[in-house]
Amino acid sequence: MCGIVGYIGQREAYPVIIKGLERLEYRGYDSAGVALYDGKNINLSKTKGKVSDLKKKSSETVSVKGNIGIGHTRWATHGVPNDVNSHPHYSNSGDLVIIHNGIIENYESIKKELINRGYVFHSDTDTEVLINLIEEVQKKEKVKLGKAVQLALNEVVGAYAIAVFDIKKPNEIVVAKLGSPLAIGMGEDEFFIASDASPFIEFTNNAIYLEDEEMAIIRLGKEVKLRKIKNDAVAYPNILELQMNLEEIEKGGYDHFMMKEIYEQPRAILDTYRGRLLADKGLIKMAGIDQHLDKFLNANRIVIVACGTSWHAGLVAEYIFEDLARIPVEVEYASEFRYRNPVITDKDVVIAISQSGETADTLAAIKLAKENGAFVFGVCNVVGSSIARETHAGAYTHAGPEIGVASTKAFTTQITVLTLIALKLAQEKGSLSKERLNEFLTELEYIPTKVEIALQSNEAIEKIAEVYKDSTNCLYLGRGYNFPVALEGALKLKEISYIHAEGYPAAEMKHGPIALIDEHMPVIVIATNKGHYEKVVSNIQEIKSRKGKIIAVVTEGDEQVKALADYVVEIPDTLEALTPLLTTIPLQLLSYHIALMRGCNVDQPRNLAKSVTVE
Ligand code: F6R
Repeated sequence: MCGIVGYIGQREAYPVIIKGLERLEYRGYDSAGVALYDGKNINLSKTKGKVSDLKKKSSETVSVKGNIGIGHTRWATHGVPNDVNSHPHYSNSGDLVIIHNGIIENYESIKKELINRGYVFHSDTDTEVLINLIEEVQKKEKVKLGKAVQLALNEVVGAYAIAVFDIKKPNEIVVAKLGSPLAIGMGEDEFFIASDASPFIEFTNNAIYLEDEEMAIIRLGKEVKLRKIKNDAVAYPNILELQMNLEEIEKGGYDHFMMKEIYEQPRAILDTYRGRLLADKGLIKMAGIDQHLDKFLNANRIVIVACGTSWHAGLVAEYIFEDLARIPVEVEYASEFRYRNPVITDKDVVIAISQSGETADTLAAIKLAKENGAFVFGVCNVVGSSIARETHAGAYTHAGPEIGVASTKAFTTQITVLTLIALKLAQEKGSLSKERLNEFLTELEYIPTKVEIALQSNEAIEKIAEVYKDSTNCLYLGRGYNFPVALEGALKLKEISYIHAEGYPAAEMKHGPIALIDEHMPVIVIATNKGHYEKVVSNIQEIKSRKGKIIAVVTEGDEQVKALADYVVEIPDTLEALTPLLTTIPLQLLSYHIALMRGCNVDQPRNLAKSVTVE
């Protein structure tokens, strides 16, 4: 779960690599490094800290000249974040240099073997073991770099996206991939290497995404040559034309990506249903579903696998699918599902939800489901991601790049896609009347405007944040469709503000958590006028009589809760099943402001990374 960048061409490599690393910091930001070839020497600079620290260090300590280079931003797995464990890593001779995203699981046995042969290790990383293994193979077999990389990779177990440079062969970079993403940007007489396309989007729209177990030799002035790592078979590059643009990956006047992404939700939701929701015709068109309708309609059940926020979107989907389409649904943490020997058959449809499309546990769950004969459908945001490619069919969320580590627009667009699927299936099954379906389709079209209205509470929420920013604990309560939103609200707060927060179904409170309530405990209650409103009002009474502080998210015009709560935030009225798309907005804003007031790094919270490509 690190970011890698490389450049080979006519430009100065350093600024390209630094800018690229800044864009990839969402993948890890505990240390960073760069190695540049100036035509004679490799100049390497690396440091614990962020890319900004690297910039400072490298400009003070090394020459940053050169047209070839590789860079890395790290999320530590093996070895604490410090200067020595940062990438790039040299081989013992100093001729080879590597950057790596992933984990080499059998590195210890390889390391022992290499130590026996006289190799010395300076870091605690698995990556330094890999580069020395490549060097050993190169020496022993007397092969070129590409072959040495291939042979070495056949000895390792684990996951990797690597880029390797050899000072003896300075016009090429060798890259390889298994389990971690790697894209090659194809410019004119220049090539870019990166974990995703964002580092090179202003230079080229053409990219090759390596498949698992593929490697490429990128040589200046030559065609990129792809081959399979397991054998020598030639692999044929599929050059994709990218749709992403530069604006989408910059902050656009906001202080943080998270805020920008919260405010992008009206547009993101609209983009997600555009062309799929045909309200005037009473239709939903989704190619991925239309082509496999029989699989969904004949399924015994749907099993949803995901992690984190995507898992919360899956929980909302469970309510929607069962309520509207009357299809049984189970929602599983991908990390549990993959190891618990689940009963899965060819009568199951598995939906895998993932913003990044790279989450290791979700990928493993998909593979397991496929081995057991299930039809697997992906709901991903990142086009061409591993999960998008590994699933039988799928639907993209069209949220645009999500860079803030805390997921916001991914959540609401995932719910949008899943709602469309549920409505489509409900229509096909006849479980929803035509009138009710039309009501949904029409209301969905209002959602972007209603999200905009919900966003107008920003200033009021900032004031509430000021009151509760020093809390040490926080409870989030919701019922029905809004129970998963309570979980998501709590996750948002804890991950970016480091305040301990728990989400609960409101009625569960009396089975334990109520013991926590006193005058210091803020309780955020989602109390919209639909569903179990009266029951939630009773829960609010219970909190109030124990002196808990109540911040309630209510439907506009609400009077009853307003009379009880310390603070209320209004959202526009909508259908009960669509409320999560609105109730989640104030919770995102609240965690943003609290985190900011506590001096936390909102976009890059500690210990986290945007895409979790390790298990
Ligand atoms: C929380 C968050 C994480 C992700 C989780 C799954 O804000 O971002 O919990 O939701 O790591 O990631 P994806 O959706 O990329 O599979």
